[in-house]
Amino acid sequence: LSLQKEKSWAQSYPLHLFQDFWCPGIHIDAVKSFQQYFQAKESDVIVASFPKSGTIWMKALAFAISNHQRFSSLEGHPLLTSNPHELVPFMEFTFGGDIQDQILRLANMAEPRIFGTHTPFPSLPKSIKDSNCKIIYICRDPFDNFVSAWTYFNKVKPVSLPPVSKEEAFEMYCNGVVDYGPWWSHMLGYWNESVAKPNKVMFMKYEDLKEDTSFHVKRIAEFLGVPFTQEDESSGMIENIIKLCSFEKMKDLEVNKSGVIGRGSIEKKNFFRKGDKGDWVNHFSSPMTEKLSKIVDEKLSGSGLSFKKHS
Ligand code: A3P
Repeated sequence: LSLQKEKSWAQSYPLHLFQDFWCPGIHIDAVKSFQQYFQAKESDVIVASFPKSGTIWMKALAFAISNHQRFSSLEGHPLLTSNPHELVPFMEFTFGGDIQDQILRLANMAEPRIFGTHTPFPSLPKSIKDSNCKIIYICRDPFDNFVSAWTYFNKVKPVSLPPVSKEEAFEMYCNGVVDYGPWWSHMLGYWNESVAKPNKVMFMKYEDLKEDTSFHVKRIAEFLGVPFTQEDESSGMIENIIKLCSFEKMKDLEVNKSGVIGRGSIEKKNFFRKGDKGDWVNHFSSPMTEKLSKIVDEKLSGSGLSFKKHS
């Protein structure tokens, strides 16, 4: 199982090479239970992502879009009072405690069930691969992904540990040694599946979503089989959803500002930093830009997946 161990950015747990990806040691049992017990339903919606790619944004959008007929006005909308990670739990962490209880609880959840996952495509449970459930993968430019991840992990690490320097973190990122990495295989796994099965896997870039949110929100609704009607459009529903899930709105909600979440007791406020594209220019030196550009080109070469040039 633990063929190889590496230090993680979080430092408080090591990464283990598990099924060809760097799995946080503290998540291995959860991932294994999920692989063994999770039973997909045709109506399931899965938000998949590499960590620090905008998962929380896509979780909020997927929830609001899937439920737009149920919560047609913003009044009393669950996203105003619950954090997206609570409304859209990570599948890996649904199996704590008594397994039979959890299986029953999941089977009885209201449909559509919406989950998140950081697990790479090849390691998803067979039932997900075999079912007609929908997967939305949110992918982020590796330059911004690196900055977001490095800053985040230094914030959530135990205070007793020293921060990881940018240079050290960058070396690890370039080697793919980061939670759920290598990032290129993670992206390519879902990318290839989205090319082979476009009705099952939708591949979305954070940068594209940021640039034309309205266009992509409509695309997501169509992909999920809940397209907006003319009436929805004219009533301003799409704009309302975009606003509700916007960085500014979500960051400002009390439910996202205070309190902790998850087993590791991560402070919710840490999921919101800059919420924009292009922050890498403030953190990259020329040699770093050159090195990561080369890795991106090499790793993605021939796949059809590419990012804007960095210079
Ligand atoms: P930055 O650190 O670049 O600001 P994840 O949810 O996968 O952990 O990703 C976190 C990143 O998404 C952070 O990026 C965070 O600020 C950004 N983010 C959170 N909510 C967002 C939103 N509503 N719109 C755009 N970006 C958002």
